[in-house]
Amino acid sequence: MRDVVGEATQRRTFAVISHPDAGKSTMTEALALHASAIQQAGAVHGKAGRRGVTSDWMAIERARGISITSAALRFDYRGHVFNLVDTPGHADFSEDTYRVLAAVDCAVMLIDAAKGMEPQTMKLFEVCRHRRIPVITFVNKWDRPGRDALELLDEIEERTGLRPTPITWPIGIPGEFRGVIDRLSGRAIRYERTPGGATRALETELTAEQAQAELGAAWQQASEEAALLSAIGADHDQKAFEAHESTPVLFGAALPNFGVARLLDALAELAPPPAPRPDEDGAVRALDAPFSGLVFKVQANMDRAHRDRIAFVRVCSGRFERGMVLTHAATGRPFATKYAQSVFGQDRTTLDEAYPGDVVGLVNATALRPGDTLYERSPVTFPTIPSFAPEHFAVARVRDSGKSKQFRRGIDQLDAEGVIQVLRSDRRGDQAPVLAAVGPMQFEVVQHRMLAEFGAEISLDRLDYTLARRTDAASAPALDRERGCEVLTRSHDGALLAVFTDRWRMRSVKADQPGLTLEPLIADTTEELR
Ligand code: G4P
Repeated sequence: MRDVVGEATQRRTFAVISHPDAGKSTMTEALALHASAIQQAGAVHGKAGRRGVTSDWMAIERARGISITSAALRFDYRGHVFNLVDTPGHADFSEDTYRVLAAVDCAVMLIDAAKGMEPQTMKLFEVCRHRRIPVITFVNKWDRPGRDALELLDEIEERTGLRPTPITWPIGIPGEFRGVIDRLSGRAIRYERTPGGATRALETELTAEQAQAELGAAWQQASEEAALLSAIGADHDQKAFEAHESTPVLFGAALPNFGVARLLDALAELAPPPAPRPDEDGAVRALDAPFSGLVFKVQANMDRAHRDRIAFVRVCSGRFERGMVLTHAATGRPFATKYAQSVFGQDRTTLDEAYPGDVVGLVNATALRPGDTLYERSPVTFPTIPSFAPEHFAVARVRDSGKSKQFRRGIDQLDAEGVIQVLRSDRRGDQAPVLAAVGPMQFEVVQHRMLAEFGAEISLDRLDYTLARRTDAASAPALDRERGCEVLTRSHDGALLAVFTDRWRMRSVKADQPGLTLEPLIADTTEELR
């Protein structure tokens, strides 16, 4: 049997977080390409004009050109096993992203050089801060006109509170990207495009004399700036990075593959390997304890031909072997793992073994929900993944009353997958559940899937509530009497949520009746998240 701790040490499990259009899909492909996992860019997300269309399993994804499905990519690189867990590109699916981030040990924050810190980047960053996930920053699209590098560093520091410590520094302003100074090794690297951009970029190491001769003023300026960074102490500090106090910064361009290999190296060298994970009581599960895993995503009907349901499990401890019988912590029931798979885009291969940090796709996982724990032998339950505060609400009803069975089944299924939060009240009854979403596109997904997968056409009547707070049974009657407020029960965990038309309404209720329980849904995050 292979050494579990040794295997875990080689794993790097991470996600790329960014605002839409910053280049996440391009970067995902470039990383996999560099690691030689795929021969030609385009096999993963299949953006228009590139090869292969692999994650457009849902019509909505195709129509909107977004990826709702989180695919987990696995590739080997220089003796390491990389697990890149994909996050949905659209802000409306932030809740999914939050769950995905529960499964990673590090995040790469991708920033567009021309745009800096954008709103969705900031939201996702807040999640990383909340979970104390170390963040590596990659300033992308340096091949196009953009902002000044020092100014971007200031913005990163100001917005995130992390001290930026560039490990590469660009030679050439944005749009005239010649190469980078590798501040950790002191080397200068020149980048040259290769035709088409869909292969590795040409990287040449230059001596200081060569750089001076070939890159002239651009090199001169970059080395002066790099010296300035050293003078102000903006140097990488592994402890500070792991403690979520600083962020190593790299400059590059994913499209022509500039700086992508350096990012892989940075992940291999700096990103933390899987660590023992605390359970819900705060005790840690050692890496070499018997198998345990956390379900971070459940997705039904990814494969139209099979109509199955797949649960993505992050291995937290021990060795996973296909066929082992696990226990589902939430129910205490046994769970057979005969159909374990590795999912790469839409391609699936049978997965026979996995180690901490790896992602296992379990097929036909009917009983599993995001946040669930699976374990072997010694029991463990990992902390639940908190739900996002929904900001959009609608009453769902089936159009054809003859389909109410399908309606209920469908709503329960989508609730279990975490596609949407389902809230109920005695006042409205079971035929009219309230769907609560972080972003309105979730409603479209529900409507589409209810019809396509369950044959139930639904109508959605939007309610004018915009925010939710957690409350309790003692406060519920008083809140229910308030104008612009309603108390609903969240189906999946029985939590009582008070929903309000707006923040002012909530504040005035709070001011009038300070004794009422009204708590944010994700504790201890900034306003920006709520
Ligand atoms: P996303 O997943 O974060 O939404 O971004 P995506 O990779 O789709 O990239 C958004 C656009 O930015 C794409 O152009 C992509 O080619 C471009 N892009 C990404 N990285 C770089 C880079 O380093 N340099 C330059 N110059 N462009 C970059 P598009 O025209 O919208 O789409 P496509 O047809 O090229 O796919």
